[in-house]
Amino acid sequence: MLRARVALNPAAVVAPVNRRTFGSFVEHMGRCVYTGIYEPGHPSADEDGFRADVLALARELGVTMVRYPGGNFVSGYRWEDGIGPAEKRPRRRDLAWRSIETNQVGIDEFAKWAEKAGVEIMYAVNLGTRGVQEALDVHEYLNHPEGTELSERRRANGAEKPYGIKIWCLGNELDGPWQTGHKTAGEYGLLAAATARALKSAEPDLELVACGSSSSSMPTFGSWESTVLEHAYEAVDYVSCHAYYEEYDGDLGSFLACATDMDHFVSSIVATADAVGARLKSKKKINISFDEWNVWYLSRFQDAPPPSEWEVAPRVIEDRYNVADAVVVGNLLISLLRHSDRVTAACQAQLVNVIAPIMTEPGGPAWRQTVFHPFARTAALAKGDVLETRVDCPTYETARYGEAALIDAVATHDPATGGVTLFVVNRDQENPVELTVDLSAFGADLSVAESVTLTDDDVRATNTKDDPERVTLRPTTQIPTGAITTGDGSVTIALPRVSWTALRLTPA
Ligand code: AHR
Repeated sequence: MLRARVALNPAAVVAPVNRRTFGSFVEHMGRCVYTGIYEPGHPSADEDGFRADVLALARELGVTMVRYPGGNFVSGYRWEDGIGPAEKRPRRRDLAWRSIETNQVGIDEFAKWAEKAGVEIMYAVNLGTRGVQEALDVHEYLNHPEGTELSERRRANGAEKPYGIKIWCLGNELDGPWQTGHKTAGEYGLLAAATARALKSAEPDLELVACGSSSSSMPTFGSWESTVLEHAYEAVDYVSCHAYYEEYDGDLGSFLACATDMDHFVSSIVATADAVGARLKSKKKINISFDEWNVWYLSRFQDAPPPSEWEVAPRVIEDRYNVADAVVVGNLLISLLRHSDRVTAACQAQLVNVIAPIMTEPGGPAWRQTVFHPFARTAALAKGDVLETRVDCPTYETARYGEAALIDAVATHDPATGGVTLFVVNRDQENPVELTVDLSAFGADLSVAESVTLTDDDVRATNTKDDPERVTLRPTTQIPTGAITTGDGSVTIALPRVSWTALRLTPA
């Protein structure tokens, strides 16, 4: 049996767990909004046309914040198309996804949905085809209390109180040539800085996110962030990171190790931002908003014929996730938590139907994809402080990322309750690994309150409409709940091959 060991210490704190780590993303894209969160006429639709089955799953997922309304979509979006009487709203072309936007859902509807779901809104403004004035206008509509044209229009539309949206994205992926209104780093840096200053004149304590690179493979990766921050450093609070991972050519070993790339991505952007701060002699630190991350079989999308022509809510990138994808999603969350000192906001892209943990059929059921489970359990159990978590374990060689650890893990400790949770993946494709968790530094007995694992004999198994519970969490084998960690203060668990596990301990 392969063996690994991790020693946890409550004094080795990385940072508090940020609730915004468990963000998601609703873009006007494909069926995320229409027949995703919103489907008047669906048997579960509420008085506002929202699917109650999807709302219940969003709550169960534990999402804390939702980025809206895009994505590539936002770079051509006119927010005012989506306010006022629904029957007067225009139908528009959405150039990003070559579909028709009916504007039946706009920010007022989405804010209602967000309230029902209990999530904070992260609002993205259009800096593709628009600029400072339109960003100020939508801010006035959403956040200004009353007594101005746009705040009064919001009140007339039924929202008496301002929405108080705190965190704003200054455009989306403007480094990408595919983006409507694509810009050079210098052009975007100036625009982001000007927009940020204007928004902060209106409301000084807004938290503003400048666009970083749309992926670490962009030719301008690093230099884009550097130039943008040279212009905008003092005016913004975050720089964004976006990363999507997939299994290429059956190379499961590399895919399972892709969180090492996320680790490297974060360290590179932290170093880049800090270097700019040092050059500017600034005391301020720029944090990271990892506001698009997930597994996405992007190469299948790129190889497919162009998206359908000008349909309303076409089926776009409705990836079906398997067991390996779920293990990777769990591992990406481990990476995000590990960097909680600098990654203080993150959004899994997206929430429903479009590369999503929640799937729906129009008029039919909603169900949990495999990737739902590690997200939901991590969001529920990661409490208190993130602890430094170094695993002593064997390594393996990957074609894409070089040498990678077989086991990756992160632990959280809640000083208020004394509870400790370890989130851990086994990347080995053949063998279980026996992991010993040394808890002696806690100085008190802990008992296993819960240990759940996501794994399957078939790593390609998926959940479907007809078999929605095929892949789910099961009690970790060989872990009797309630086992007391006495003696040397450790507990040993067997991690099946290709698996994600959450082990929760509470004071005995
Ligand atoms: O999430 C899907 C798309 O991926 C988003 O619209 C875009 O920002 C990114 O490229």
